[in-house]
Amino acid sequence: MSKEKIILGFETSCDETSVSLVKGSEVLVNLISSQVEEHKEFGGVVPEIASRAHVEKIRNLLHECLLQGKIQPESVDIIAATDGPGLAGSLIVGYNFAKSFAWSLNKPFYPIDHMVGHLVAPTLINKDLQPPFLSLLVSGGHTQIVLVEKWGRYKLFGQTIDDAAGEAFDKLSRYCGFGFPGGPAIQMIGENGNPDSVDLPRPTVKSSHDFSFSGLKTAAIYFLKELDGSTNKISKEDFAASYQEAIVDTLMRNFTKVLKETGVPIISGGGGVMANTRLREKMEALAEKSQIECHLPSVQLSTDNAAMICAAANKELISTDISRDIRLSSIIK
Ligand code: KG4
Ligand code: ZN
Repeated sequence: MSKEKIILGFETSCDETSVSLVKGSEVLVNLISSQVEEHKEFGGVVPEIASRAHVEKIRNLLHECLLQGKIQPESVDIIAATDGPGLAGSLIVGYNFAKSFAWSLNKPFYPIDHMVGHLVAPTLINKDLQPPFLSLLVSGGHTQIVLVEKWGRYKLFGQTIDDAAGEAFDKLSRYCGFGFPGGPAIQMIGENGNPDSVDLPRPTVKSSHDFSFSGLKTAAIYFLKELDGSTNKISKEDFAASYQEAIVDTLMRNFTKVLKETGVPIISGGGGVMANTRLREKMEALAEKSQIECHLPSVQLSTDNAAMICAAANKELISTDISRDIRLSSIIK
C-alpha cells in the first residue's frame, strides 16, 4: 500500500487566509484567519484591504500550521494553492507565496481550482465518497449544479445567470443593515422567524436549470419599500426567515429536478452557503426521501479553507496553468 501523502495547502481567493496540512484524507491542521473585522464597516469585501491582510497573515499562519502539525517542511510531499477563481490581488498572495515555498524546498507545486476544492471537500468527512454524485456548489461568487461523473470529469447542469446564492444573502443583508457576511447574519436573525410570512418569488429561468437570484433580491427590496409607506409591519425575524426560505427553495427546486433526471445514488454540496442550516436540512431530507446518500462537508469545511485545496491536490485534480480557463463554470454542458 502506498504511503499517504502529506499536503500543505494555501487558500487566499477572497477574505479568508487559510493554511492547512492534510495527510491523505485526514485533516491534520486547518487554520483559517477570517478578515470579517477588516471588511465589516464597508458591508462587503474590499479587494485592496483583502490582499494586504493576506500579506500580513500568511507567513505566521504557515509557521503556526507546521508547528501545530509537528511537521518539518522537508516532510511535506506536495504544496498546493488556489489559483482561481477569486480576487486577483488576493489569489496572487497565496499562489506566489506557496509556489516560492515549494521551489525553495524543491517540492512539487499543485495549482488548484477553488470550486474543485469545494467539490472535493466532502471527501475530508467521508474518504470513501466516490463518483458518480450530484453536487450543489453555492458560494459568494458561484451557484452550480455539477454532476461528478468521475474525479476530474464534470457536467454542469445549471448555474446562476446573475447573482450567486451567497451574493443574494450578502446584498440584501447590506441593504437591510443586518450585518456582514450576509448569509450567517440572515440565518441568525431568521432563526425564530416564520418562513411563510412574506410571499417572495422563487425565480425560474425558462427551459433550463439555471438560477436567477437578482430578481428575488429586487422583489424583497420592493416589498420593503412598499411596506415603508403602509401601516402593515413585519418583524425582521419573519422577513429574514422568509428570504432565506425563498433562496433555499429556489436552490432545492432545480437541484431536485436534476437529481431526478440523472438518477445518481449520492448527493453532495459545498461552498459557504452550504453552511446554512436550513439548506443542509433540505439536502438531508431530499436524500432521505429519495433513499440515496447525502455527504455534506462540515460547516467549517463548507466555507473557504485550505484543507479542501489539499483534498483536491490529493486526488491530483490539478489546474494546468494560472492563465488557462477550465473553470467549472466554463465546462461545456
Ligand atoms: O465559499 P465561501 O466561503 O467564499 C466564496 O468562495 O465566495 O462563500 C461565502 C458566501 C457568502 O456569500 C456568505 O454570506 C455565505 O457564503 N454564507 C452563508 C452562510 N455562511 C456563509 N450563507 C447562508 N447561510 C450561512 N450560514
Ligand atoms: Zn469558496
